[in-house]
Amino acid sequence: MSDLQIVRTIPELRATLRVWRAAGQRIALVPTMGALHDAHMALMQAGRARADRVVATIFVNPTQFAAHEDLDTYPRREAQDIEKLRADGIDLLFAPEAGEVYPDGFATTVTVAGVSEGLCGEYRPGHFEGVATVVTKLLLQALPDIALFGEKDYQQLQVIRRLTWDLDIPVEIAGVPTVREADGLAMSSRNLHLSEAERAIAPRLHETLAGVAEQIIAGTSPEAACAAGRAQLVESGFKPVEYLELRHAETLDVPTQPLDASTPCRLLAAVWLGDTRLIDNIAVG
Ligand code: PAJ
Repeated sequence: MSDLQIVRTIPELRATLRVWRAAGQRIALVPTMGALHDAHMALMQAGRARADRVVATIFVNPTQFAAHEDLDTYPRREAQDIEKLRADGIDLLFAPEAGEVYPDGFATTVTVAGVSEGLCGEYRPGHFEGVATVVTKLLLQALPDIALFGEKDYQQLQVIRRLTWDLDIPVEIAGVPTVREADGLAMSSRNLHLSEAERAIAPRLHETLAGVAEQIIAGTSPEAACAAGRAQLVESGFKPVEYLELRHAETLDVPTQPLDASTPCRLLAAVWLGDTRLIDNIAVG
């Protein structure tokens, strides 16, 4: 076990990182909203493999939740999270209060056009502005060499890649493959909200995506395959199905037809199961 250092203010964070940087150490940053599970820890381990120091952040970012969303019920388990970080030898936890991140008078928002639009951007207005703003701040506060994000939140990953390029933030953004439960369900803090019956249905989201991807690869048109997939999701009990769509893997544009085998594509979906919103995505081709 290492000594996990816990800091709650930006000056403390900067003071510690300054010493590590001066010693020539490479720093990895893993931003999270806590309620840490094995997928978060996989991001930390990927950071460990690529840097000398791993810095985790836990901040349930209010600006990425719309008024009607689950900010109040979002799981918060800081004591357990700290134990996990300690057990995995994480060097530093930055867990600020909301007032540290958004002091009175805060007036700046980072908006990323293009990749933020459509998909989750359509159903969660303002969400990616909140994500882009807080991630920009965390990157500038920590100035890490590398920051790691999960492919599970695929649109978020592309938004973050875009903003670091556009704003010339000198950091490498690394995407980490989606970590799944044994039955295929993508790990998520929100899975804690699923009832036993819902938990039994949840893996069908990934199964459906895999089936649709197979059909597209076999030559079915993306429109037809996605429409059949949406019907199958409804049949399985997901309601509503917000979207199931094929997109270009980097721009998230609708891919031009006919599909060319060299175009990297991604199949992405968002659905509701009772009161819980689930998202997932897989590579196609
Ligand atoms: P959170 O949902 O806590 O996720 C933190 C990181 O873990 C994100 O990069 C997310 O993509 C990754 N992650 C979650 N579940 C995963 C899974 N099953 N497989 C792989 N990676 C997974 O995403 C956020 O927090 C926030 O939006 C944040 C980026 C911290 C900004 O507030």
